[in-house]
Amino acid sequence: IFGEKRRNSKGVNLNVRSHYQPLMDAMAGFMDKTYEAVPLLAFEVPRDAANTHVVNSPYDRNRQVGSVQWTNKEQASRAVDAAWAAFPRWDATPVTERAAIIRRLGDLMEENLAELMTLCSREGGKLLTDGVDEIREAVDFCHYYAMRAEELFEAPTVLPGPTGESNELMLSGKGVFAAISPWNFPVAIFCGQVVAAAVSGNTVLAKPAEQTSIVAHRVIELLYQAGMPRDVVQLLPGDGPTVGSVLSADTRITGVVFTGGTDTAQIINRALAARENAPLPTLIAETGGMNALIVDSTALPEQVVSDVIQSAFQSAGQRCSALRILYLQDDVADRVIEILKGAMDELHVGDPRDLGTDVGPVIDEDARKGLMAHIDRLKGEGRLLAETRLDPAFTALGTFVPPVAFRIDSIDALDREQFGPVLHIVRYKANEIDRVIDSINKRGYGLTFGVHSRNESFANAIAEKIRVGNVYINRNIIGAVVGVQPFGGQGLSGTGPKAGGPHYLLRFATEKTVTVNT
Ligand code: NAD
Ligand code: ALA
Repeated sequence: IFGEKRRNSKGVNLNVRSHYQPLMDAMAGFMDKTYEAVPLLAFEVPRDAANTHVVNSPYDRNRQVGSVQWTNKEQASRAVDAAWAAFPRWDATPVTERAAIIRRLGDLMEENLAELMTLCSREGGKLLTDGVDEIREAVDFCHYYAMRAEELFEAPTVLPGPTGESNELMLSGKGVFAAISPWNFPVAIFCGQVVAAAVSGNTVLAKPAEQTSIVAHRVIELLYQAGMPRDVVQLLPGDGPTVGSVLSADTRITGVVFTGGTDTAQIINRALAARENAPLPTLIAETGGMNALIVDSTALPEQVVSDVIQSAFQSAGQRCSALRILYLQDDVADRVIEILKGAMDELHVGDPRDLGTDVGPVIDEDARKGLMAHIDRLKGEGRLLAETRLDPAFTALGTFVPPVAFRIDSIDALDREQFGPVLHIVRYKANEIDRVIDSINKRGYGLTFGVHSRNESFANAIAEKIRVGNVYINRNIIGAVVGVQPFGGQGLSGTGPKAGGPHYLLRFATEKTVTVNT
């Protein structure tokens, strides 16, 4: 629940046949449809076959989802012209009207759940359960940000002052925002960025990830259906460096809201800083993590393993929040690893559309190759602890990486985030806990973190010392809920404002104080 007016979206309970079957029947209607996504700009864009890219499913490289026409540099620049021109009009539009459009988008996404879920699965390789969660989160973002925008923007805050003077603080949009999103939450994060920026009075240039532009295109079509003017939110599918370089170099871009890799955030940050005579921009960056979970000897091993399996391997480990390093106190390590091996044996890797599948594909061949290079290196060093079996038929079909667990000595053995189902396990002795926490803090990432312990003061002390955005005690470390667990990191994991939290929209707003001598 995030307010008196609205509860979080209920989604669909896939364990109940009377819910599951109608959804499957509706999804079947979109399984073979071929989609054509094009830039959705304030002006007509001619068809450009040479700049059109075919999209295939990660779980079956022979199945085409459709094609995407990428935005070229000149179109990107013209889109900025249109967004710049539309800003004053949109910013002056009453917040209740802006919020109404965003709420309608939320309702339309719920009505079109089957199609959006099918696309998440066909284009992004998402499991059905992940697809339900994905659309729920996107719907929640719409309703939550609409509610917060009305609370923040509708009336100025009256401030105290001496007799004969009135003081008011008012909020408005900042200008034109570029919204650059990743493929791993192709609806939720894509939509969350766009609606937060737009409901706050900004015009928006939305750049979806190359891998998941078709579902993004469908969301923007729904947004237009909800009443959003075309010059207020435009969709610029395309190559990140090409479109990104135009947007981050343009002095009319007032802000960038970015979610993706830490390296990409740093490129954008440098490009924004290099602009001459440009107003200082806002950069909201939500980036990668090297997320840890600490288990002490009082923890319940069966619960630990269940939470580790979810945290490390759900969504094929392709969540920024996913568990990468499990710290096991020596006394319980053998027991936990034994149960973990058993649980990993039971995981089923395969077709994401099958309800019996636990782990679907990784997003593409580049991702698979990168993960396999890391896996092969650690295997070569004799560090393998456990591995899930993969039916060879799937290897031939798509980009699958079966879950795997390795022994490592410390977080410093990892030079970068491994964005897939790869778990690293470090054993520690009780008297080394301070050193462990120090090493995690020094590594510089700060997204999610977990503790499993029945010693409350131990868990609380660690939660206090660790420098991360989201701490979870005695549960899994993924799946933050809008309005319930505001989400976002610090340090190498991002600039901080919490998506789905009460202060997020403030980063998209400019403040003005008006003092009147009455
Ligand atoms: P990515 O950085 O490769 O791409 C993200 C977006 O940036 C894409 O739209 C891409 O086209 C664009 N891009 C690439 N180069 C660019 C450039 N030079 N200028 C402007 N834009 C550019 O990330 P990804 O592979 O799509 O996503 C996975 C990453 O996202 C992981 O590191 C994951 O941890 C992170 N992530 C973070 C969060 C969070 O909330 N902290 C959430 C989800 C994903
Ligand atoms: N918000 C997503 C999660 O918590 C990234 O898993």
